[in-house]
Amino acid sequence: QATSIAADRVPDMGKRKLMNLLLLGTLSLPSGFMLVPYATFFAPPGSNSGDGGTVAKDAVGNDVIAEEWLKTHGPGDRTLTQGLKGDPTYLVVEKDKTLATYGINAVCTHLGCVVPWNAAENKFICPCHGSQYNDQGRVVRGPAPLSLALAHADIDDGKVVFVPWVETDFRTGDAPWWA
Ligand code: FES
Repeated sequence: QATSIAADRVPDMGKRKLMNLLLLGTLSLPSGFMLVPYATFFAPPGSNSGDGGTVAKDAVGNDVIAEEWLKTHGPGDRTLTQGLKGDPTYLVVEKDKTLATYGINAVCTHLGCVVPWNAAENKFICPCHGSQYNDQGRVVRGPAPLSLALAHADIDDGKVVFVPWVETDFRTGDAPWWA
């Protein structure tokens, strides 16, 4: 009798162990998969941050460090940097020696020439057909039909980061034509 009980139990025990192993395997599998999204989530952002922003680059292609920039660019300065989608974009230094929270896209809204800043006239004046924009890039003389596009100029970790401007154009009160 005793022998037959033991014989009955042995396969039973083996079965339970196997079941436990299978159960553990099933439970550990999803947690293994979970590592992938977690790893992605915590990966440090590259030069393009997640919200569509782009670190501004100076004339030689280095990231623009806000503090350093302000040491060499005085009040009223408007200097070209590389902005969103590689567009030439003016970084603006306000009269109080802080960086403006917006950058001005230098591409003329007439036929796309890059519009230089004219400090003496306090305007952007397009060399191609004479369009003029005020010191914030608002069109003041045609043939350009529209003001220069804006981008947000944020400071992230000390660097200037351009972020697409999708809000109302503060210069005209209109919806942004470029968004
Ligand atoms: Fe600037 Fe024509 S491209 S005025």
